[in-house]
Amino acid sequence: MNQRRVLLTGASSGIGKALSERFAREGYHLVLVARRESALNALAETLRVAHQIQVDVVSQDLAEPGAAQKLVKTLAQKGLEIDVLVNNAGFGLNGGFADLPLEQWNSMVQLNVTTLMELTHLLLKGMRQRGFGRILNVASVVSFMPCPNFAIYAASKAFVLSFSQALHHELRQENIRVTALCPGATATEFHEVAGNHGTLITRWMDTPEQVADEAYRALMRERSMVISGWINKPLPFFLRLSPRSWVLRIAEGMARHA
Ligand SMILES: NC(=O)c1ccc[n+]([C@@H]2O[C@H](COP(=O)([O-])OP(=O)(O)OC[C@H]3O[C@@H](n4cnc5c(N)ncnc54)[C@H](OP(=O)(O)O)[C@@H]3O)[C@@H](O)[C@H]2O)c1
Repeated sequence: MNQRRVLLTGASSGIGKALSERFAREGYHLVLVARRESALNALAETLRVAHQIQVDVVSQDLAEPGAAQKLVKTLAQKGLEIDVLVNNAGFGLNGGFADLPLEQWNSMVQLNVTTLMELTHLLLKGMRQRGFGRILNVASVVSFMPCPNFAIYAASKAFVLSFSQALHHELRQENIRVTALCPGATATEFHEVAGNHGTLITRWMDTPEQVADEAYRALMRERSMVISGWINKPLPFFLRLSPRSWVLRIAEGMARHA
């Protein structure tokens, strides 16, 4: 039985749920975090019964300022130490920067960037004291390119990739590893939330289970980055060869509604 404990944000659906199931199969104890408490409780009960592990649930909005501090306080009250952090919660919106309200962009930056960064900082302290830590940060293939009509989302994921790889290097002398996961289009609720239906993005999608499996293996191999899905892997190579104006036009076309 694996006695290590994993905290997963965005565990109520999609990639986060599939990652929770993947870690549970390996015998890790879990802390599941998202807003939808009933979905978290249902998943927690299934995983407890199937794998005889401890599963705690924290229902919290992570897009609020101070969310990471509040979550860490809850963990301390429950006496839960975190060995593996999975920063997965995130959302995107398909729309022009000037057309959507600023509150939505602020909320996205808070969740995709600030909470991820703050939670990493706060939980690293305990990882360092205990001499062990693994961190999986969910970025995206859009981390590698600017995306018109996904401008803030792509910029937020560029932050996640850059931050994670730099941190992986900074901590290389300690027993703490950081892996950035860059999924391509994956069949989850993400596209409903983003308003992607009818776009080319949703034409070819991996399953969240495929993505979770690749992510888990990359984390165990202590890799600084993994692009999931064989079709997505050559993307950084092609992007390096292509003029930026082409990249912008192709990215714009992918996100356009039919
Ligand atoms: N699907 C794709 O094509 C794709 C591609 C590349 C990267 N990604 C990234 O993968 C990650 C997981 O997304 P997914 O595809 O699995 O989408 P999803 O099914 O919509 O899952 C998103 C998760 O984040 C949680 N979440 C959203 N807003 C939250 C908030 N304010 N506070 C707390 N939790 C919140 C959701 O739970 P609640 O609603 O219950 O709070 C849910 O569990 C995201 O970071 C996304 O950017 C997705």
